[in-house]
Amino acid sequence: MEKKGRVCVTGAGGYLGSSLVKLLLSRGYFVHGTVRDPSSEKYAHLKKLEYGSENLQLFKAELLDYGSLCAAVAGCDGVFHVASPCPPSTVPNPEIELIEPAVTGTLNVLKASSEAKVKRVIVVSSVAAVIMAPHWSKDKIMDETCWSDKDYCRTSGNWYCLSKTAAESEALEYGKKSGLEVVTVCPSQVLGPMLQPTMNASSLILFKILTGVYERLENKTRYIVDVRDVAEALLLTYERSDASGRYICTAHPIRTRDLIEKLRRMFPQYKYPPVSEDATNDVQMSAERLKSLGWNCRPLEETLVDTVKSFEEAGLLKTD
Ligand SMILES: NC(=O)c1ccc[n+]([C@@H]2O[C@H](COP(=O)([O-])OP(=O)(O)OC[C@H]3O[C@@H](n4cnc5c(N)ncnc54)[C@H](OP(=O)(O)O)[C@@H]3O)[C@@H](O)[C@H]2O)c1
Repeated sequence: MEKKGRVCVTGAGGYLGSSLVKLLLSRGYFVHGTVRDPSSEKYAHLKKLEYGSENLQLFKAELLDYGSLCAAVAGCDGVFHVASPCPPSTVPNPEIELIEPAVTGTLNVLKASSEAKVKRVIVVSSVAAVIMAPHWSKDKIMDETCWSDKDYCRTSGNWYCLSKTAAESEALEYGKKSGLEVVTVCPSQVLGPMLQPTMNASSLILFKILTGVYERLENKTRYIVDVRDVAEALLLTYERSDASGRYICTAHPIRTRDLIEKLRRMFPQYKYPPVSEDATNDVQMSAERLKSLGWNCRPLEETLVDTVKSFEEAGLLKTD
């Protein structure tokens, strides 16, 4: 296989991080993966990936420890900054638990990358940095020019959205000032096979739908994208020298009721929640800019089948 150079992935052991590491290894990259505790069993899956034993080196790094990030990015041509707190529910101290690691952590990664003479950094943002935009006309499709309003995120208590909006805007600003190539990718809700042993927040939503945890769900439009397609988007924006700025990465808009009906047809053995009346706060968004770079996405059915299969294989869902 053609050797592609050395890249760093922060948050390598997380849901998206693991899928990205798998893709990079399969395409011939040598990967520096940052994890918080390299001795933990929670990262054992990484070394078992194809080429993992020879082409993956794990580094202990914490987003607020600048020195640990410098050690991880040293010698790399590119960095994929994936790590950021994604709690499944509200946290008691969002400034400390969410905003600081997201914003200061991103700036630390970017500064360490500049110091190491890295050429390009791909920062994983989120549509959370796009959609909290009450100023945006409801009938207009949201594109990369749409930003979540930070004050609105704060006053409405959407701390995760604030953390992603502030981190992404600071990252793009840093790129403009420093000359480091910074590209941001904003995925919508990510589903698809889990490689890591612990459940991440977006997979948990589908898991709860399948296990009857929700009493009722709102019939809003959900935007789903496959974790493998997001990894491809990150690699595409890294490898395409003409990629710049922000890219929304979303694939399948689907109303909750339609999603549940689809799941019920595909997996009748699970217990589904009732869906309430139509929600009114829907947004429309588009990944046209990413598609114009050549990005494609797989069918939703494949994503759902492979996600459920990964839950079953991990013993999280009973198959009988
Ligand atoms: N999943 C989605 O639907 C979705 C959608 C849009 C954007 N995103 C973005 O995608 C990225 C990955 O999220 P994910 O879905 O893969 O969730 P995840 O599995 O929870 O991954 C988060 C990663 O960040 C790391 N991390 C968190 N705080 C850290 C800190 N202070 N220092 C070092 N590492 C830290 C975690 O490390 P540990 O393994 O040590 O906990 C973990 O590897 C995030 O930037 C998230 O905002 C996700």
